[in-house]
Amino acid sequence: MGKDARHLNREDDPLDFIHEDHLREREICASIDKIAEGSLVPMKVVKEVISFLTVQLPLHLMDEEEDLFPLFKRRCLPEDNIAKIISRLHRDHAHAGEDTPKIVTLLKTLIAGPRALERAAMSMLAAYAGHARRHLILENAIILPFARRRLTKGDLETLYIRMCQRRGISSLKDARYAK
Ligand SMILES: [Fe+2]
Ligand SMILES: [Fe+2]
Repeated sequence: MGKDARHLNREDDPLDFIHEDHLREREICASIDKIAEGSLVPMKVVKEVISFLTVQLPLHLMDEEEDLFPLFKRRCLPEDNIAKIISRLHRDHAHAGEDTPKIVTLLKTLIAGPRALERAAMSMLAAYAGHARRHLILENAIILPFARRRLTKGDLETLYIRMCQRRGISSLKDARYAK
């Protein structure tokens, strides 16, 4: 077992970490938009997008699906009316699971050598980024503020430990530096 979760301090807040993932995802969406517009994007940026989609995003989706959402559902009150929103977010994640590998395959063709994207590929990239952005807005506007209000200290500790275990680290700070 890694860090003793009873001694979590402000900078170890798992919800802050999830919010940082969202900020990073928004940057990634902006890069995808640029690629979709046909702008000349440095290879380094294309590689960063691929790395986010294949490494950080799957971890983030698991953090939400396996830990944050279940804790959230347990703690929210009926009047919070979150059931519909959670099922919408689950659907979004399922779509992301199907679409992300296609986006990665497409981006890898750019790594292989500079080439102009076909119109269909540009539309696919733009749609993916748009979808991800709408999802982020919903999570930032509803899920994170409600989670801050409803999750107990024990819930946050559980979430923290699970996120560390998922990444094979003892402190989320280690993953922060690696981002
Ligand atoms: Fe998220
Ligand atoms: Fe999500």
